[in-house]
Amino acid sequence: MEFLCVNILAGSFELPYLSVYLDATGSYFTYGANFATAGSTIRPQNTTLAQSGFSTISLNVQYYQYSQFHSRSQIIRARGGVFRELLPKNDDFSPALYTFDIGQNDLTSGLFLNMSTDEVKMTVPQILDQFTTIVKYIYGEGGRSFWIHNTGPVGCLPYVMDRLPITAGQIDSVGCANSFNQVAQYFNQKLKETVVQLRKDLPLAAMTYVDVYSIKYSLIKHARKHGKPV
Ligand SMILES: *[C@@H]1O[C@H](CO)[C@@H](O)[C@H](O)[C@H]1NC(C)=O
Ligand SMILES: *[C@@H]1O[C@H](CO)[C@@H](O)[C@H](O)[C@H]1NC(C)=O
Repeated sequence: MEFLCVNILAGSFELPYLSVYLDATGSYFTYGANFATAGSTIRPQNTTLAQSGFSTISLNVQYYQYSQFHSRSQIIRARGGVFRELLPKNDDFSPALYTFDIGQNDLTSGLFLNMSTDEVKMTVPQILDQFTTIVKYIYGEGGRSFWIHNTGPVGCLPYVMDRLPITAGQIDSVGCANSFNQVAQYFNQKLKETVVQLRKDLPLAAMTYVDVYSIKYSLIKHARKHGKPV
């Protein structure tokens, strides 16, 4: 999850990356803050990072961090001086863009626990309920613009294909594991429905659903065209 002040969008895109929220030194949050961590899931996992490789900073923790950032940035900004240049104004939070790219690790965490694809699909409603909760919390803090990526073709990821048993019949013409991609497609269909519901529940919000799956799948399908050496 990222919180992006709209002033970054109004200007050039040749701006530095957003500072990471947990980066304690040299950070500059005027344009926003990045709460993402590698291996994050929507649902908190029942495993440690060492056991599973999934981050303990799940979406709810990212939300807590955001919420603290929202309030504490204002306390610190009020000290004046350099803090006024390093931290966003309270008025920046409502028009900011809130971006989400999360969910893939919830699917792979189930697969890595040896759940069947049907069992993983059965966890999708719980995963999306949790996602809905967090979007509503941010709306509750004034957030109005949401940019939501769907999840990519997990069945094309080398670390998934390497780690899970796949039969030749499950490989599609592009070389991806179709059975796992179907789980991602199922998640995306339900995510789309979730966004439609959120638009009804949060009438003042603008929600953009971005089909990252198609973009990534097309990149992999046409890898040569996009510069992969022959
Ligand atoms: C973790 O365990 C709790 C309690 O058994 C369960 O409700 C929850 O779904 C589990 N979470 C995941 C991600 O498996
Ligand atoms: C999943 O199955 C594989 C192969 O049988 C096994 O090596 C692995 O320990 C299992 N993983 C879990 C988390 O049960």
